[in-house]
Amino acid sequence: MVMRLDKLLAHYGIGTRKEVKNYIRKGFVTVNGSIIKKDDFKVDYETDKIIFDGELITYKPYVYIMLNKPAGYVSATKDNVHPTVVDLIYGYEQYDLFPVGRLDLDTEGLLLLTNDGDFAHKLLAPSRHHSKLYYACVEGIMEENDILKFKEGITIDHYRCQSSNLSIIKTEDNTSEVLIEIFEGKFHQVKKMVESVGKKVTYLKRLQMKNLKLDTSLQIGKFRELSEDELVDLMNDL
Ligand code: URA
Repeated sequence: MVMRLDKLLAHYGIGTRKEVKNYIRKGFVTVNGSIIKKDDFKVDYETDKIIFDGELITYKPYVYIMLNKPAGYVSATKDNVHPTVVDLIYGYEQYDLFPVGRLDLDTEGLLLLTNDGDFAHKLLAPSRHHSKLYYACVEGIMEENDILKFKEGITIDHYRCQSSNLSIIKTEDNTSEVLIEIFEGKFHQVKKMVESVGKKVTYLKRLQMKNLKLDTSLQIGKFRELSEDELVDLMNDL
């Protein structure tokens, strides 16, 4: 993929476009071994060897980040009241990251952030029915009958949800721990589905999206880029 040298370096995070132009004019940049002093010089970031001040520039146009979202953060890029999930990500300021879909303010767990709109669109498109797996603590006893109702398709807000999978981990003292797998992403869907069978979600965490599992070693509020393998698996059949 071909782009202007100054644009690439600015996007990489070397400096502002103006600063980068200055560095280029001063001879800080080589492309394939030659000093390049023209800021509009065209480079192919997939094949050219670009070096800035001794540092090899390994530019990537898109990034894919896994965040273990804490409660209290809005799944948006801006908010007037609460901090956003984007505020938790540092070192990627030059990428215009946005969350892939939403988790509620009080929901924790797996949230992806990217600057790849096409990827986000495909992962979220309702027609593609990608699975999302949640762990929930519930007030009330979830029963065998609820499993059947989830399978048949719960109706929320006059909308009949697709068949979903409920599995009960344990029940105790009028509380339940469950896993819920859904294949669409309606607003507050899990909470509303549980409410429709007469119980209440008191804690919600997303564990998995499609075949991507939340990294259990990722502490709450922490993030990392997806590995090559994770990305390939996720992109496969998207
Ligand atoms: N369902 C919900 O109710 N809330 C979430 O954050 C995600 C799914």
